Amino acid sequence: MRESPAVLGGQPAFAELLRFVKPDLPSHAALEPALREIVSSGMLTKGPYLGRFERAAAEHLGVKHAVAVSSCTSGLMLAYRGLDLRGDVVVPSFTFMATVSALVWAGLRPVFADVDPLSTNLTPEAAERAITPDTSAIVAVHNFGNPADIEGLKAVAEKHGAALVFDAAHGFGALYRGSPVGGQASAHVFSLSPTKLLIAAEGGIVATNEDRLAERIRVGREYGNDGHYDSLFAGLNARMPEMNALLGLHGLAMLEDVARRRNQAADEYRQRLHEIPGLAPIHVAAGNRSSYKDFAVTVDPDRFGLSRDELVRALAAENIDTRNYYDPPVHRHKAYRHFAAADLRLPNTDLLAACSVSLPIGSNLGEGTVAKICDAVHRIHRSARDVKAKLKGGRDSVVV
Ligand SMILES: Cc1ncc(COP(=O)(O)O)c(C=O)c1O
Repeated sequence: MRESPAVLGGQPAFAELLRFVKPDLPSHAALEPALREIVSSGMLTKGPYLGRFERAAAEHLGVKHAVAVSSCTSGLMLAYRGLDLRGDVVVPSFTFMATVSALVWAGLRPVFADVDPLSTNLTPEAAERAITPDTSAIVAVHNFGNPADIEGLKAVAEKHGAALVFDAAHGFGALYRGSPVGGQASAHVFSLSPTKLLIAAEGGIVATNEDRLAERIRVGREYGNDGHYDSLFAGLNARMPEMNALLGLHGLAMLEDVARRRNQAADEYRQRLHEIPGLAPIHVAAGNRSSYKDFAVTVDPDRFGLSRDELVRALAAENIDTRNYYDPPVHRHKAYRHFAAADLRLPNTDLLAACSVSLPIGSNLGEGTVAKICDAVHRIHRSARDVKAKLKGGRDSVVV
């Protein structure tokens, strides 16, 4: 093991930048016959691959309807509209901005609620505290692919007559009590962008068991046109093209293997980081499986010896790419902070925003990569005092 971290002049753990994520894709040879067929048929959109992908996704998720759309963001916009939500919607601030931007596009008012510091997910208690007389829905997120407390949130939503929607952008590959997340609420909305386990280049899936909602999404992704050119409501163009559906179909066949290998990488991270004080991976409840769309750890600066930001800079010197998900949290974004009351306190959200960092993970990291990353974290921790002094002096040339 090298003794000195790169930020103090040691050799970097990786000679070239270790990218944060590398998409799992089918081979060109596997795609080629169908690509040829799509191009020669001229059916680039609304063709047979869309239907095939939707049926396969619905079967995988165990839901009645899996409606494919152009992105998770458009799927969320259409789901919020399709459920006729009005007024206030309880939503975590510790999430990606699209959970909230889609609410605002749908004319709704986000009411921010706190998350659990260990799972990073919205808790039923925090959701209930944030309910107002105008609340029409609770939107929760399976952060980093870690299933939220679906049953607990469902009980709160039912008690208050609110709809329950999950932003399941990270959800493909996640299991809640042994079953894929997807059928346990009014809607689960998935992302199929290249950082996810199931990739369609860009795309989303709205999973629901409700016939009316599925129909509203289908019409909504077609401008609100049910075929009569007399708009039923203001829709979008949120269609998924055939080539994306083809990628999605291949991705579904690869998904279980991808999820299994991500979980192996996460297990290795947990074992290797275990003895480093002040680093805590996210808690996944017994009986659930995270997709590990991301492997996030929380840094306790007092015990680790460095802040999250200092660790990130030291890892950058090792050529290890990381992400500070989600800093700043959404209730502090320029576009959304006016929705947060002056006395709003979200202590766990602020703590996670300041202390959480996601390390590279993927099913194709390569043999020994997690070990090299963890060795680098060990070296940085062992030299924490010197690293802190060096970074304070601003003498490192690391650009983050
Ligand atoms: C929690 C969450 N919601 C929504 C989105 C938006 O997904 P898309 O890019 O498919 O619109 C993302 C993107 O990664 C996300 O992380």
